[in-house]
Amino acid sequence: MYITIQTTYIINQSQIRLDIPKVIKICNLDDLKINKSCGFFVTMNGEKKPLIVVRLQNSVYVYINSCPHIGAPLDLKPGQFLSHDKKNIVCSTHGALFEIETGHCIFGPCKDKYLKAIPIQINNGEVLLTST
Ligand code: FES
Repeated sequence: MYITIQTTYIINQSQIRLDIPKVIKICNLDDLKINKSCGFFVTMNGEKKPLIVVRLQNSVYVYINSCPHIGAPLDLKPGQFLSHDKKNIVCSTHGALFEIETGHCIFGPCKDKYLKAIPIQINNGEVLLTST
């Protein structure tokens, strides 16, 4: 699944701060399957960026789809980012493994680096991009 939304952003060390006037709904929590991943696009500062979305039970994690190793997209297939055991995000290029909850690389050529996290909120069953 890929969804396109419009926003702008400011990059910090390991998190993206979105420059949006209000929260933006990206989907309903129920649209995301438990222990599954999907992707969507945001247009940030005029540049289209693919994002990784992973749902674990009632939590959702969103990252820029760019590996901290060489910047390649991580998808195994479009929108598929999880290892076979569903415990980690995996990079399809060189096999780096990332913690789903933190984006921390625990194995591979970019060990101890992080995926860039996107701040979200879940409110009344809606997944929202936020500016903080
Ligand atoms: S590009 Fe992801 S591990 Fe090399």
